[in-house]
Amino acid sequence: MVNRRPLIAGNWKMFKTCQEAVDAAIQISVLVADVVSDVDVMVAPTFTALALVSDKLEDSPVLVGGQNLYWEKEGAYTGQISADMLVSAGCKCVIIGHSERRQYFNETDETVNKKIKAAISAGLVPVFCVGETESEREAAKTFSVLDKQVQKGLEAFSPDDLKSLVVAYEPVWAIGTGKTATSEQAREVHSYLRVLLDRSFGADLAASIRILYGGSVKPDNVSELMSMEDIDGALVGGASLDPETFSKIVHFK
Ligand code: 13P
Repeated sequence: MVNRRPLIAGNWKMFKTCQEAVDAAIQISVLVADVVSDVDVMVAPTFTALALVSDKLEDSPVLVGGQNLYWEKEGAYTGQISADMLVSAGCKCVIIGHSERRQYFNETDETVNKKIKAAISAGLVPVFCVGETESEREAAKTFSVLDKQVQKGLEAFSPDDLKSLVVAYEPVWAIGTGKTATSEQAREVHSYLRVLLDRSFGADLAASIRILYGGSVKPDNVSELMSMEDIDGALVGGASLDPETFSKIVHFK
Protein backbone atom coordinates (compact mmCIF):
# COMPACT_ATOMS: atom_id res chain seq x y z
CA MET A 1 0.00 0.00 0.00
CA VAL A 2 1.57 3.24 -1.15
CA ASN A 3 1.24 6.19 1.15
CA ARG A 4 0.49 9.26 -0.94
CA ARG A 5 1.11 12.42 1.06
CA PRO A 6 -1.72 14.87 0.52
CA LEU A 7 -0.82 18.03 -1.42
CA ILE A 8 -2.89 21.19 -1.17
CA ALA A 9 -1.81 23.75 -3.79
CA GLY A 10 -2.97 27.34 -4.25
CA ASN A 11 -2.99 28.70 -7.78
CA TRP A 12 -3.06 32.47 -7.45
CA LYS A 13 -3.54 32.98 -11.20
CA MET A 14 -3.21 36.68 -12.17
CA PHE A 15 -3.93 38.03 -8.69
CA LYS A 16 -1.79 39.85 -6.12
CA THR A 17 0.97 42.40 -6.47
CA CYS A 18 4.43 41.48 -5.17
CA GLN A 19 3.74 42.88 -1.72
CA GLU A 20 0.32 41.24 -1.51
CA ALA A 21 1.82 37.92 -2.52
CA VAL A 22 4.59 38.15 0.07
CA ASP A 23 2.11 39.11 2.81
CA ALA A 24 -0.23 36.24 1.93
CA ALA A 25 2.61 33.71 1.72
CA ILE A 26 3.95 34.69 5.13
CA GLN A 27 0.48 34.45 6.68
CA ILE A 28 -0.10 31.05 5.10
CA SER A 29 3.23 29.71 6.33
CA VAL A 30 2.27 30.68 9.89
CA LEU A 31 -1.31 29.40 9.66
CA VAL A 32 -0.38 25.96 8.28
CA ALA A 33 2.74 25.38 10.41
CA ASP A 34 0.90 22.86 12.62
CA VAL A 35 -0.02 20.52 9.75
CA VAL A 36 2.94 20.61 7.38
CA SER A 37 4.29 17.41 8.88
CA ASP A 38 1.25 15.62 7.38
CA VAL A 39 0.34 17.70 4.33
CA ASP A 40 2.42 19.22 1.53
CA VAL A 41 1.41 22.81 0.84
CA MET A 42 2.26 24.79 -2.27
CA VAL A 43 1.51 28.30 -3.48
CA ALA A 44 1.86 29.48 -7.08
CA PRO A 45 2.15 33.27 -7.28
CA THR A 46 2.66 35.20 -10.51
CA PHE A 47 6.15 35.18 -12.06
CA THR A 48 6.99 38.65 -10.77
CA ALA A 49 6.45 37.64 -7.15
CA LEU A 50 8.16 34.23 -7.24
CA ALA A 51 11.64 35.19 -6.08
CA LEU A 52 10.34 37.45 -3.33
CA VAL A 53 7.90 34.84 -2.04
CA SER A 54 10.52 32.07 -2.19
CA ASP A 55 12.91 34.25 -0.25
CA LYS A 56 10.34 34.85 2.50
CA LEU A 57 9.44 31.14 2.63
CA GLU A 58 13.04 29.97 2.72
CA ASP A 59 12.67 28.51 6.21
CA SER A 60 9.13 27.24 5.66
CA PRO A 61 8.12 23.87 4.21
CA VAL A 62 5.50 25.65 2.08
CA LEU A 63 6.57 25.04 -1.52
CA VAL A 64 6.60 27.67 -4.23
CA GLY A 65 5.51 26.85 -7.76
CA GLY A 66 5.31 28.61 -11.11
CA GLN A 67 2.06 28.76 -13.08
CA ASN A 68 3.66 28.03 -16.44
CA LEU A 69 7.03 27.77 -18.17
CA TYR A 70 8.52 27.65 -21.64
CA TRP A 71 10.36 24.52 -22.74
CA GLU A 72 13.48 26.08 -24.30
CA LYS A 73 16.45 26.59 -21.98
CA GLU A 74 17.04 30.18 -23.10
CA GLY A 75 16.97 32.28 -26.24
CA ALA A 76 15.18 35.02 -28.12
CA TYR A 77 11.68 34.23 -26.82
CA THR A 78 10.36 37.53 -25.57
CA GLY A 79 8.13 37.17 -22.55
CA GLN A 80 8.90 33.54 -21.82
CA ILE A 81 10.33 31.98 -18.65
CA SER A 82 12.43 28.79 -18.62
CA ALA A 83 12.45 25.93 -16.13
CA ASP A 84 15.91 26.91 -14.90
CA MET A 85 14.69 30.45 -14.33
CA LEU A 86 11.89 29.11 -12.15
CA VAL A 87 14.41 27.03 -10.21
CA SER A 88 16.61 30.09 -9.77
CA ALA A 89 13.57 31.96 -8.39
CA GLY A 90 13.16 29.28 -5.73
CA CYS A 91 10.45 27.16 -7.35
CA LYS A 92 10.17 23.47 -6.60
CA CYS A 93 7.05 22.86 -8.72
CA VAL A 94 5.28 24.21 -11.78
CA ILE A 95 1.67 24.03 -12.96
CA ILE A 96 1.50 22.85 -16.58
CA GLY A 97 -1.43 22.71 -19.00
CA HIS A 98 -3.97 24.56 -16.88
CA SER A 99 -7.27 24.82 -18.73
CA GLU A 100 -7.03 28.63 -18.78
CA ARG A 101 -3.77 28.29 -20.70
CA ARG A 102 -5.32 25.72 -23.03
CA GLN A 103 -8.34 28.00 -23.54
CA TYR A 104 -6.75 31.45 -23.86
CA PHE A 105 -3.10 30.90 -24.76
CA ASN A 106 -3.08 28.10 -27.33
CA GLU A 107 -1.68 25.47 -24.98
CA THR A 108 -1.95 22.07 -26.66
CA ASP A 109 -1.22 18.51 -25.57
CA GLU A 110 2.02 18.77 -27.57
CA THR A 111 3.23 21.94 -25.83
CA VAL A 112 2.19 20.47 -22.49
CA ASN A 113 4.37 17.44 -23.24
CA LYS A 114 7.40 19.64 -24.00
CA LYS A 115 6.83 21.66 -20.85
CA ILE A 116 6.60 18.58 -18.64
CA LYS A 117 9.86 17.36 -20.15
CA ALA A 118 11.57 20.69 -19.47
CA ALA A 119 10.25 20.75 -15.90
CA ILE A 120 11.49 17.24 -15.15
CA SER A 121 14.92 17.95 -16.66
CA ALA A 122 15.27 20.95 -14.37
CA GLY A 123 14.17 18.98 -11.29
CA LEU A 124 10.79 20.71 -10.95
CA VAL A 125 7.68 18.78 -9.91
CA PRO A 126 5.22 19.13 -12.79
CA VAL A 127 1.59 19.61 -11.76
CA PHE A 128 -0.02 18.38 -14.97
CA CYS A 129 -3.61 19.62 -15.42
CA VAL A 130 -6.28 17.75 -17.32
CA GLY A 131 -10.05 18.08 -17.51
CA GLU A 132 -13.08 18.18 -19.74
CA THR A 133 -15.34 21.10 -20.65
CA GLU A 134 -19.03 21.18 -19.85
CA SER A 135 -20.03 20.33 -23.42
CA GLU A 136 -17.59 17.42 -23.49
CA ARG A 137 -19.09 16.05 -20.27
CA GLU A 138 -22.62 16.48 -21.59
CA ALA A 139 -21.62 14.61 -24.74
CA ALA A 140 -20.29 11.75 -22.56
CA LYS A 141 -16.75 12.44 -23.80
CA THR A 142 -15.10 12.94 -20.41
CA PHE A 143 -13.08 9.73 -20.49
CA SER A 144 -12.02 10.03 -24.12
CA VAL A 145 -10.89 13.63 -23.58
CA LEU A 146 -8.83 12.56 -20.57
CA ASP A 147 -7.42 9.61 -22.50
CA LYS A 148 -6.07 11.93 -25.15
CA GLN A 149 -4.78 14.55 -22.72
CA VAL A 150 -2.92 11.94 -20.67
CA GLN A 151 -1.62 9.97 -23.62
CA LYS A 152 -0.31 12.96 -25.55
CA GLY A 153 0.73 14.99 -22.53
CA LEU A 154 2.84 12.11 -21.21
CA GLU A 155 3.97 10.71 -24.55
CA ALA A 156 7.48 9.24 -24.68
CA PHE A 157 8.16 9.36 -20.95
CA SER A 158 9.37 6.35 -18.99
CA PRO A 159 7.96 5.49 -15.56
CA ASP A 160 11.26 6.63 -14.12
CA ASP A 161 10.89 10.10 -15.69
CA LEU A 162 7.51 10.55 -14.04
CA LYS A 163 8.41 9.68 -10.46
CA SER A 164 7.72 13.22 -9.24
CA LEU A 165 4.68 13.88 -11.45
CA VAL A 166 1.50 15.25 -9.91
CA VAL A 167 -1.72 15.14 -11.93
CA ALA A 168 -4.52 17.65 -11.34
CA TYR A 169 -8.02 16.83 -12.53
CA GLU A 170 -9.83 20.11 -13.08
CA PRO A 171 -13.19 19.81 -14.81
CA VAL A 172 -13.36 23.09 -16.74
CA TRP A 173 -17.05 23.54 -15.87
CA ALA A 174 -16.19 23.58 -12.16
CA ILE A 175 -13.43 26.21 -12.31
CA GLY A 176 -14.42 29.54 -10.80
CA THR A 177 -18.09 28.71 -11.25
CA GLY A 178 -18.97 27.59 -7.74
CA LYS A 179 -20.05 24.26 -9.29
CA THR A 180 -17.95 21.54 -7.72
CA ALA A 181 -17.94 18.08 -9.15
CA THR A 182 -19.67 15.86 -6.62
CA SER A 183 -17.20 13.82 -4.63
CA GLU A 184 -18.45 10.74 -6.48
CA GLN A 185 -17.99 12.39 -9.92
CA ALA A 186 -14.46 13.38 -8.93
CA ARG A 187 -13.64 9.94 -7.49
CA GLU A 188 -14.83 8.23 -10.65
CA VAL A 189 -12.52 10.32 -12.81
CA HIS A 190 -9.56 10.04 -10.43
CA SER A 191 -9.87 6.26 -10.42
CA TYR A 192 -10.07 6.31 -14.20
CA LEU A 193 -6.93 8.46 -14.41
CA ARG A 194 -5.09 6.00 -12.18
CA VAL A 195 -6.13 3.17 -14.49
CA LEU A 196 -4.79 5.14 -17.47
CA LEU A 197 -1.49 5.72 -15.66
CA ASP A 198 -1.31 2.05 -14.75
CA ARG A 199 -1.89 1.03 -18.36
CA SER A 200 0.86 3.27 -19.70
CA PHE A 201 3.41 3.25 -16.91
CA GLY A 202 2.69 0.27 -14.67
CA ALA A 203 1.06 -0.32 -11.33
CA ASP A 204 3.89 0.96 -9.12
CA LEU A 205 4.06 4.37 -10.69
CA ALA A 206 0.27 4.67 -10.97
CA ALA A 207 -0.11 3.90 -7.28
CA SER A 208 2.45 6.50 -6.26
CA ILE A 209 1.30 9.47 -8.36
CA ARG A 210 -0.77 12.06 -6.53
CA ILE A 211 -3.94 13.11 -8.30
CA LEU A 212 -5.35 16.45 -7.12
CA TYR A 213 -8.88 17.69 -7.66
CA GLY A 214 -9.43 21.30 -8.70
CA GLY A 215 -12.61 23.30 -9.33
CA SER A 216 -14.38 25.40 -6.69
CA VAL A 217 -12.68 23.67 -3.76
CA LYS A 218 -13.72 25.47 -0.56
CA PRO A 219 -13.37 24.85 3.19
CA ASP A 220 -16.85 23.32 3.29
CA ASN A 221 -16.36 20.74 0.53
CA VAL A 222 -12.69 19.81 0.87
CA SER A 223 -13.09 17.18 3.60
CA GLU A 224 -15.59 15.16 1.65
CA LEU A 225 -13.48 15.33 -1.51
CA MET A 226 -10.36 14.34 0.41
CA SER A 227 -12.14 11.36 1.97
CA MET A 228 -12.57 9.76 -1.45
CA GLU A 229 -10.30 7.04 -2.70
CA ASP A 230 -7.82 8.30 -5.30
CA ILE A 231 -8.21 11.98 -4.38
CA ASP A 232 -4.83 12.94 -2.99
CA GLY A 233 -5.09 16.69 -2.73
CA ALA A 234 -6.55 19.85 -4.16
CA LEU A 235 -5.54 22.56 -6.60
CA VAL A 236 -7.34 25.62 -5.30
CA GLY A 237 -7.96 28.86 -7.21
CA GLY A 238 -10.23 31.53 -5.73
CA ALA A 239 -10.28 30.15 -2.21
CA SER A 240 -6.46 30.14 -2.02
CA LEU A 241 -6.24 33.91 -2.29
CA ASP A 242 -7.32 34.52 1.29
CA PRO A 243 -4.79 33.00 3.73
CA GLU A 244 -7.40 32.15 6.39
CA THR A 245 -9.64 30.40 3.88
CA PHE A 246 -6.72 28.55 2.28
CA SER A 247 -5.49 27.47 5.70
CA LYS A 248 -8.93 26.01 6.46
CA ILE A 249 -8.63 23.95 3.27
CA VAL A 250 -5.14 22.79 4.26
CA HIS A 251 -6.66 21.75 7.64
CA PHE A 252 -9.14 19.48 5.86
CA LYS A 253 -8.81 16.65 8.38
P1 13P B 1 -11.30 27.74 -8.51
O1 13P B 1 -10.89 27.07 -7.22
O2 13P B 1 -11.37 29.23 -8.41
O3 13P B 1 -12.51 27.12 -9.10
O4 13P B 1 -10.09 27.46 -9.54
C1 13P B 1 -9.61 26.19 -9.70
C2 13P B 1 -8.36 26.25 -10.50
O5 13P B 1 -8.38 26.58 -11.66
C3 13P B 1 -7.09 25.93 -9.82
O6 13P B 1 -6.06 25.79 -10.72
